[in-house]
Amino acid sequence: MPTLLHLDSSAGGARSVSRALTAEFADAWLAAGPGREVVRRDLQADPPPHLPQADLHWPSELRRGSVDPAAEALQSTLVDELLAADALVIGVPLYNYSMPSTLKAWIDHIHVPGRTTSSTGAPPLAGRPVVLVVARGAIYDPGTPMADADHAVPPLRQILGDALGMDVHVVAVSRTLSDLLPLLHGEADAHRAEAEAARAQLAALARDLG
Ligand SMILES: Cc1cc2nc3c(=O)[nH]c(=O)nc-3n(C[C@H](O)[C@H](O)[C@H](O)COP(=O)(O)O)c2cc1C
Repeated sequence: MPTLLHLDSSAGGARSVSRALTAEFADAWLAAGPGREVVRRDLQADPPPHLPQADLHWPSELRRGSVDPAAEALQSTLVDELLAADALVIGVPLYNYSMPSTLKAWIDHIHVPGRTTSSTGAPPLAGRPVVLVVARGAIYDPGTPMADADHAVPPLRQILGDALGMDVHVVAVSRTLSDLLPLLHGEADAHRAEAEAARAQLAALARDLG
């Protein structure tokens, strides 16, 4: 049965832009074909711990010591859930110019050289689609002062795309704080236009990604 793994990491609750968009994507993906299933993991409601031991980063043959069985069991749950997914959607709110620590903790658990990556052939997730739904409060348009200040998307591309071989799609909405910060008050229309464009992009991806 085709399975979508749906991850959220926003602490924004019902106001979260990324949560609304990942939910819309999941619904559209479910409707795009028969017999589909969505597995949901809310990294804010049920956060993985910070990686408790460096040895967990490595497959068993490369470890220099023993690991806590409970920590290893949680890591296996996260890795197995990822490996079982045919597609992934991840809500990525920009926090302090980077990804939320909950999402980073998930990445630290699932990036296991030799298990989710391969130095000898195609990694197990090669070619599987992952949609990053990025929500950012301020303005990151090319040519503006913070154009290069989003430090969430580059490491996610590096790990999920370059290391795990997944097919990374990024759908970003900025200016989400245009209703809150006086500095951004003139940006509300531009924000609405970005949100509409993101919805259209996500609908097309849900149809096309299979
Ligand atoms: C802890 C925290 C840090 C934030 N840091 C940034 C930031 O560095 N740059 C930015 O543009 N917006 C920042 N914001 C605003 C969020 O990116 C914005 O509210 C976004 O919409 C969050 O995603 P969400 O709507 O899915 O919750 C921050 C918000 C919080 C709560």
